[in-house]
Amino acid sequence: MKPPLRIAIAGLGTVGAGTVRLLRQNADLLAARAGRRLVLSAVAARDRRRDRGIDLAGVRWVEDAAALAQDPEIDVVVELIGGSDGVARAVVAGAIAAGKHVVTANKALIAHHGTELARAAEARGVALQFEAAVAGGIPILKALREGLAANRVTRVYGILNGTCNYILTTMRESARDFADVLQEAQQLGYAEADPSFDIDGVDAAHKLAVLAAVAFGNAVDFAGVHVEGIRHVSALDIDFAAELGYRIKLLGLARLTANGLEQRVHPCMVPRSTPIAHVDGVFNAVVVEGDFVGRVMLEGRGAGAEPTASAVAADLLDIAVGRWSSSFTLPAPALEARPASPMARHVGAYYLRLMVVDRPGVIADIAAALRDEQVSMEQMIQRGRKPGEAVPVVLTTHETEEAAMRRAIARIDKLDTVLEPTRMIRVENL
Ligand SMILES: NC(=O)c1ccc[n+]([C@@H]2O[C@H](COP(=O)([O-])OP(=O)(O)OC[C@H]3O[C@@H](n4cnc5c(N)ncnc54)[C@H](OP(=O)(O)O)[C@@H]3O)[C@@H](O)[C@H]2O)c1
Repeated sequence: MKPPLRIAIAGLGTVGAGTVRLLRQNADLLAARAGRRLVLSAVAARDRRRDRGIDLAGVRWVEDAAALAQDPEIDVVVELIGGSDGVARAVVAGAIAAGKHVVTANKALIAHHGTELARAAEARGVALQFEAAVAGGIPILKALREGLAANRVTRVYGILNGTCNYILTTMRESARDFADVLQEAQQLGYAEADPSFDIDGVDAAHKLAVLAAVAFGNAVDFAGVHVEGIRHVSALDIDFAAELGYRIKLLGLARLTANGLEQRVHPCMVPRSTPIAHVDGVFNAVVVEGDFVGRVMLEGRGAGAEPTASAVAADLLDIAVGRWSSSFTLPAPALEARPASPMARHVGAYYLRLMVVDRPGVIADIAAALRDEQVSMEQMIQRGRKPGEAVPVVLTTHETEEAAMRRAIARIDKLDTVLEPTRMIRVENL
């Protein structure tokens, strides 16, 4: 048998502890598959005395995580601390510079600094792998780099945040409002005490930027992602969506357009007839459309100690057998730097919900605003009649450019019969 692969883990929280458990529990299986043992040699975290419920017998504790880079007894550094800068970045950059392979689950780091880190890793001849950074346990990056590698990807999209999917699913199933369901999700441990990264779409945007870079061979462009979260999704919109044959999901979507690389994260109306509309609760799913393979969907757990450890350990296994290549499918210098396709140029269908005074002539004014911007209406629902009072009016449009849609909404919101800002949700053709 070849000499063991000597591993150091920086960060022993949810993912770090899960990875230690996996390396212990499946040690023989990993050794058989790699033809060598994967040995946990050293660990680093902040608090040495904390009981983590893991067996660290025979493992060296290192006080300064960044010092792992200089440790001659280590072949691979696994960064599981988190954060786009600070210690995590120092650990990863330091390990690469010292000629060590790196595995990380850190989507924020890769979304912000992935291209430069990949360039450094290639220059040093070491691996930089981050399967766990996108959709946790779902091996989507490996699928893109290997099984789907012969395809030109035309579009990639997915449910990339389990917290948002749990909240939207629970809102639909229990007809409750966002704030109420968020509070329950926090009590159950499905949402953080500060949930903003999840519910404002930032976490999904980090993952989408990494996913799009791998799928399209582009330099990672987090700044080019259009991001909207789920705070404004209401029980009323979820109910209307059902009536129209849709479900509301927070999706991350990327494709190449004539204007460049379009990357967007926002609530979407997803046709109920599509498989992804039925991916519920904390589950994630990613759909890849390739020119030869057609549509492929992978579904699974996007977070949690065990699924994330599964992805981290798979990267370690690949390094153990020498089965790794460019982090973003293409060598870093060959990655494209396409411009970000502006959202104003996005072409799609839209759902609008207006709260209007129930009075003759209101609908004619709305129709006129749409006509003047050349937005063509597909259908309209006015539920209930309460003369002189506020009622919701919902309409969907045919495909139109977002800039025209926004101009029409600005005109509609100026009408004195429209009582609240119009709610707009994009309707996806999936
Ligand atoms: N949780 C998931 O399901 C999941 C899924 C996919 C990807 N990820 C990614 O995986 C990474 C880790 O997430 P997590 O949920 O495991 O985080 P976590 O539970 O908060 O754990 C973070 C760990 O980093 C350690 N740490 C913090 N600052 C440190 C420092 N200066 N030096 C050394 N160690 C330090 C902490 O030490 P102490 O324990 O001593 O405080 C802790 O063990 C993040 O990048 C995250 O985005 C997480």
